[in-house]
Amino acid sequence: MHGFIDVDHQPDPTSWVAVLDRLTEEPFYRSYQQRVRELLRPSPGRRYLEVGAGTGASAVRLRDDHSVSVATVDHARTMSVAMRARGLTECAVADAHHLPFLNRSFDGAWADRTLQHVADPHAAIKELVRVVRPSGRVVLADPDYDTQVLDIADQSLARRVLRFRADVLLRNGTLAHQHAGLLAAYGLVDINVEARTLVVRNPTAVDNVLGLRSWAATAAERGALDPAEAQAFADAFDDAVAAHRFTYTVTFFLTAATVS
Ligand SMILES: C[S@@+](CC[C@H](N)C(=O)[O-])C[C@H]1O[C@@H](n2cnc3c(N)ncnc32)[C@H](O)[C@@H]1O
Repeated sequence: MHGFIDVDHQPDPTSWVAVLDRLTEEPFYRSYQQRVRELLRPSPGRRYLEVGAGTGASAVRLRDDHSVSVATVDHARTMSVAMRARGLTECAVADAHHLPFLNRSFDGAWADRTLQHVADPHAAIKELVRVVRPSGRVVLADPDYDTQVLDIADQSLARRVLRFRADVLLRNGTLAHQHAGLLAAYGLVDINVEARTLVVRNPTAVDNVLGLRSWAATAAERGALDPAEAQAFADAFDDAVAAHRFTYTVTFFLTAATVS
């Protein structure tokens, strides 16, 4: 299972802080996270919540750019420590399924790449909606791994590895295109879906984080792929990089709505 399901019990918990720091510096991530904050329609003096806030980089930006107050929740104590070190003060170590706040406590709340990891995303969304006041905003952002493509020589093998990434390596790797429907089911209005596609042409740029090249080896370890196929994947991957052919994409969905 993915390390973000249980950061505190990973062999090196702080390495997951470094992963998030690295991603935050990527232009694609900076850009879509800024859009997530805009979709909250923040106004000065109001109060917002990020669920699964990680290092709190986006929460700090929202607070500083819009003169609002921001509370955060993350179930990893490691992340809470990192957030406090970065100047956030209201950092609850809590689970997205049981938020330690009264109903209607916030003017807006968001979850960015958190729902892909939670045990029950429907319950977590319901809980997020519960703590936002009427007319307040809810924003959900996640990659949807049903949207992946990868150009290496063996497309059939590529598709099998991408399916493994979508269906096994993540708990809810293909949920994001359903965010709008779930928010509608919970009675939210003014629902808006935006898509942003991450294009990776140089896998070393984000590969420490995405681990693209290692997905086939992981599939082989778990019996989902033959070891020879995993090696063939790695070879085709390296050939594609050497030939400047390599292209991987995955689309993120940014779904925003208003509590009625
Ligand atoms: C991929 S990181 C994203 C962090 C941050 N939102 C960002 O944009 O950088 C996912 C975060 O969600 C947290 N998380 C995962 N499952 C959670 C849960 N059930 N309750 C609270 N936090 C959770 C992880 O500890 C991790 O910090």
